[in-house]
Amino acid sequence: MHPRPAPAREAPSWLLDEPYDEISLGTLKSGKEAEVFLIERRYASGSTVLLTHKRYRPRRPSAGELRELGFNKATLYRHDSTYRAGWFLSSRDRRAVAHKTDHGHDVIERMWPIREMTMLDLAWRSSASVPYPVERTDDGIVMEFIGDLDAAAPRLTQAHLSVGEIASAWDQLLVSLRALTSGGIVHADLSAYNLLWWRGRIVIIDLPQAVEFTTNADAPELLHRDLANVAGWFERRGLEVDVEAAFGELIGLAW
Ligand SMILES: Nc1ncnc2c1ncn2[C@@H]1O[C@H](COP(=O)(O)OP(=O)(O)O)[C@@H](O)[C@H]1O
Ligand SMILES: [Mg+2]
Repeated sequence: MHPRPAPAREAPSWLLDEPYDEISLGTLKSGKEAEVFLIERRYASGSTVLLTHKRYRPRRPSAGELRELGFNKATLYRHDSTYRAGWFLSSRDRRAVAHKTDHGHDVIERMWPIREMTMLDLAWRSSASVPYPVERTDDGIVMEFIGDLDAAAPRLTQAHLSVGEIASAWDQLLVSLRALTSGGIVHADLSAYNLLWWRGRIVIIDLPQAVEFTTNADAPELLHRDLANVAGWFERRGLEVDVEAAFGELIGLAW
């Protein structure tokens, strides 16, 4: 149904193939579910690269804790089963997840890095503007660092864009959403917090809950919610955007 585009871009293979020393330059962001580190890899060849290591926390927030962290119950949270349609689990794991056993919780925890790497890789291959995926680790993923030694890229919410940049950011977002949708993916947690702004370029991050049109019946609805979410942010900054027109165009690309 979705012809997968040929790999448009590849992260440089020497990133994985050549020997390197790695040092941690500290925490970029400590969130409720994941902690994001800045790491530097020094390669034998002399190249040095800054990368991001996003590591999932091995813990299960309780409903009370989630509320404390500002989640309201009506919001679909990443742990909602909506996002799990399309996960390939054994029948034993599937049952454990359904019955919320300890093993089921472990299965879900283990799946987030796997999902994020898979979705980031799909997104990158469909030419969306995302950090390039480098590798999966036991508890997370390593990807391109958006920023430089002086600063990490700000989220769109903190980037102080000019009027012209706001219009450009929306246009760029639509370009990337066309790429994602043509590649069969919906981000499913799109917001101005999961968009970085770096040197005039918008970069989409945070894809573990992304779903595919082929395996998740809620994909169209999630796409509409994504669009409405980000459109709200742009509209509050004075840009006129047409969510329904954008949705109509994108859904046409998905099928
Ligand atoms: N590749 C990256 N380059 C630069 N900063 C990043 C990168 N990935 C994540 N971050 C920073 O870490 C924060 C949290 O990452 P995110 O993937 O959104 O995780 P979560 O929202 O689940 O905690 C982001 O808002 C951003 O500030
Ligand atoms: Mg995020």
